[in-house]
Amino acid sequence: MSSAAPTSTTHTRTDLALNVALATVRRNVPLFRGIYPADTTSAGRYPRRPAATGIEEGGNSGWTTSFWPGMQWLAWEATDDAVFRDSAHAYTVDFVRRVRAVEDLDMHDIGFLYSLSTVADWRLTGDLVARDASLQAAALLMRRFLEPAGIIQAWGDLQDPAQRGRTIIDSLMNLPLLTWAAGETGDTRFSDAVQRHTAQLREHIIRENDSTFHTYQWDTVTGVAAGGTTAQGAHDQSCWARGQAWGIYGFALNHRATGDPRDLAAAWRCAEYFLAHLPTDLVPYWDLDFGENDGAPRDSSASAIAICGLLELARAGTDSVRSARADEAARELLDALIEHCTPATAEDADALLLHGVYSFPEGIGIDEGTLWGDYFYLEALVRVARPDWTTYW
Ligand code: GLY
Repeated sequence: MSSAAPTSTTHTRTDLALNVALATVRRNVPLFRGIYPADTTSAGRYPRRPAATGIEEGGNSGWTTSFWPGMQWLAWEATDDAVFRDSAHAYTVDFVRRVRAVEDLDMHDIGFLYSLSTVADWRLTGDLVARDASLQAAALLMRRFLEPAGIIQAWGDLQDPAQRGRTIIDSLMNLPLLTWAAGETGDTRFSDAVQRHTAQLREHIIRENDSTFHTYQWDTVTGVAAGGTTAQGAHDQSCWARGQAWGIYGFALNHRATGDPRDLAAAWRCAEYFLAHLPTDLVPYWDLDFGENDGAPRDSSASAIAICGLLELARAGTDSVRSARADEAARELLDALIEHCTPATAEDADALLLHGVYSFPEGIGIDEGTLWGDYFYLEALVRVARPDWTTYW
């Protein structure tokens, strides 16, 4: 990595990129009013979300819908234009309905879903209905906390033998909902769960070489850690790029809650491994085990998440040298995304960020825009434009 400090050129570049990204969100608002885009683009355009069991086309299903109102909350903060606030708030109404109906919420992604919808609304507007729904979501997430393992089960029914006791690296991003609930209610069961789940992942999901497993399973009877595998990585021992990025941002955010220096160290371990396994253009392959001659597609979304994590690390550190390193690396990665992975104008694509991969092993969303890639790219741009920005996490 070069040692160039952020320059006015860098700022101009990110400002221009922010303007294009905001123009894309503005264009998408009427296209998707009252409905949700699919997880990924298809040939560059977001279709409506496909119908799911009991949920019609365009409806609020799956784990990624909150990234859409999340982008609108960011756009409102960046522009002060009430169009974005009103549109984002309309989605709050639907997220309140979803949690009251407990519809398609048999998963740990309740944290992603509610941090960026109702928690964001409560934090920004003080809407009490949004606050109540967020607390209900946090209580639902707590039902997945398993004793004696001290982890939150990621996927599926709690009785499903294939999923019992399994957590995944992404889970770290679901914990800020519990941290928020602990702060609102004073109930330490939320904060204890954050501390214990983070500690279990810190001790087991990071390998000795600082790469990470995608998934890790615990024996739910004894609480003993059983071993790691992958679902979306190249193979069980490889390092799925987005998982490593979830590790950077997730451990950094949870360190903010726990104050445990080992959680900060875990975030740095994930970060250093990620940075050391980037190609020369700084846009990661979808699995960090691939190199320049493997012809593997990139996952731009992994980079967008890592950038937000690095910017969080830059804020978190008491060590000014490390903070400067995190900030510099974040800006270099962001520059690379702007150069290689963004449409020239808002008209050229529905996605803010091109060249993501959802799940290569399943053949889903390869070399496409992704809702989460768009959200974290916009969050990164807002973080750079407004260093005092308060996260929704
Ligand atoms: N959290 C699921 C994924 O990153 O694909």
